[in-house]
Amino acid sequence: METNNNEKIYYPSKQVIDNANIKEYDKLYKNSIAHPEKFWEEQAGYLSWYKKWDKVLDSSNPPFYKWFEGAKTNIILNALDRHQTSANRNKLALMWEGEPGDTRSFSYHALNREVCQFANILKSMGVKKGDVVTIYMPQIPEQIFAMLACAKIGAAHSVVYGGFSHESLADRINDANSRVVITADGGYRRGKVVEMKSVVNKAMELSPTMEICITVKRTGVDVYMENGRDYWYHDLKGLPIASTKCETEQMDSSDMLFLLYTSGSTGKPKALVHTHGGYSVYTSTTHRMVFDIKPEDRYWCAADPGWITGHSYIVYGPLINGATILLYEGAPNHPYPDRWWKMVDRYGINILYTSPTAIRGLMRFGDSWPNRNNLSSLRLLGSVGEPINPEAWRWFYEVIGNGKCPIIDTWWQTETGGFMITPIPVTPLKPGSATKPFFGCVISIVDEKGKEVKTGEEGNLVIKTPWPGMTAGVYRDPQRYIDTYWKKYQKQGWYLTGDAAKRDKDGYFWIIGRTDDVIKVSGYRLGSAEIESVMAKHPAIAESAAIGLPHAIKGNAIHITAVLRNGFKSSKELEHELTAYMIEHLGPIARPEEIIFADMLPKTRSGKIMRRVLKARALGLPEGDLSTMDE
Ligand code: PRX
Repeated sequence: METNNNEKIYYPSKQVIDNANIKEYDKLYKNSIAHPEKFWEEQAGYLSWYKKWDKVLDSSNPPFYKWFEGAKTNIILNALDRHQTSANRNKLALMWEGEPGDTRSFSYHALNREVCQFANILKSMGVKKGDVVTIYMPQIPEQIFAMLACAKIGAAHSVVYGGFSHESLADRINDANSRVVITADGGYRRGKVVEMKSVVNKAMELSPTMEICITVKRTGVDVYMENGRDYWYHDLKGLPIASTKCETEQMDSSDMLFLLYTSGSTGKPKALVHTHGGYSVYTSTTHRMVFDIKPEDRYWCAADPGWITGHSYIVYGPLINGATILLYEGAPNHPYPDRWWKMVDRYGINILYTSPTAIRGLMRFGDSWPNRNNLSSLRLLGSVGEPINPEAWRWFYEVIGNGKCPIIDTWWQTETGGFMITPIPVTPLKPGSATKPFFGCVISIVDEKGKEVKTGEEGNLVIKTPWPGMTAGVYRDPQRYIDTYWKKYQKQGWYLTGDAAKRDKDGYFWIIGRTDDVIKVSGYRLGSAEIESVMAKHPAIAESAAIGLPHAIKGNAIHITAVLRNGFKSSKELEHELTAYMIEHLGPIARPEEIIFADMLPKTRSGKIMRRVLKARALGLPEGDLSTMDE
């Protein structure tokens, strides 16, 4: 085997191999793709069903594949209900720590009671099967209760990340026609209260469909509550309606479980739909096989439940597997840069799953912070969201994992529901490579025409066959789903990921990054068009172009080139004003690194902004083919 630059290959130790449930990848992979339906049917056999499927895969209407067609289930049947009659009933499901240091924990029994109460409250508010409930909350246990309560009664949740502005929240509420929103007065971040209910109040003014808001009291910050619209969660919980018993709604396998908004290269963020059956099988199988989960493990996915990573690998996959999870509310470096390492030590965490941005952010404080804590409980480390640079990889491996924990670099997307390219613990590792496809997944790198590229050459990353975690499509916009993901290789029937990648001699995948106008900032996904449309609303702006440029911690940062309207002059003050404007209107995650002013933007003759030219100029690279550029 070789590496990219003849770097060291990290082979699994004897201890890792002895401990691993799956000791060999190649044979199982070959079998899984030779007989995918058999493979997935076997995995589905680990779960409970109200009624089993008539067909494993219905591919009569591609790309709208249906998994476990004819089956009756509910993800809650597996994530909660079945644990109530096994030894898991008394097992810790959720350990939680707030940023100020307060703690709460819930067994599977206690979690079930909380979820039933929340579900009954939602029912009493008229929420029913097929409705969409919006959740905009800090990372507190009620965020998870709310998600699970929706699923239990057959309503879809739409979790909106707390770093979005009231306008972004309102856009998502309106697109989903959501009637009910669940929030908290606020949450803690870096020692301060971040208000949330006040943001929801502003969003509700822009949302004609919004009728009811349920607010969890977390911080005690003053909030405005309107009679008939606003309810405190603790008040509702005290009423007889909030019984601790609630029947789980029986759903079709392909019924909607949740919507999750994500940015694409054009237009407004779109809602991707995931369903009960296929998603249950996919998240639990990937979580069980890749993280090699053991009954005694304490597992920490340090993402926000507001993103797909949190949905699949904080909440659903681990709970279906009966795992013990940790949720933490606040910043990794508050009050000191070893907050996370202290928590790994205190909770005895065995598996830690996080992002390259978080790793780089903690690495800059030096080794002494992790070294003063006992991290010996760690067995596996995971990374997701963007390519991990070898330097951060090695620090994670040597300093956090003490050279004994494999780094599980998982490549996947909101659309894929779960891991697609990832090592398992026994896979030899090359820093910076997500290694090989997960079982049952056929993944390739092709040129514009669909021809497989040569070893070492860059091309489009495509997925050639359906998998149970795949999205059911864009909410109420089937055409957009086809156009975005399936049109380019329609003849072949392949899914276009939007990522560029290459493969080395050993078949290892190296992800290069997005090929479209999606910018990954700290692992979060933002569209150039989304940023530019907010900029365009500012009175000083005629037009603008947003690009992502490399950043030491964030991976990429947003750089905007703006053209001013007549009568406006560029200045530092205007730059500050525009930065504040972006944060107010899109949210803190959209903070631009830099705004520069120009007289015009490079465009094609048909008027499309050539962002690649701006990027090449900023990086001092050749500008490439300019034949389509307007004079
Ligand atoms: O560009 C890839 C990058 O994140 C994109 C998907 O973003 P999102 O839907 O927000 O999901 C993130 C969490 C699954 C991909 O198209 N990406 C994700 N994981 C990796 C990655 N790039 C390189 N290596 C990864 N491990």
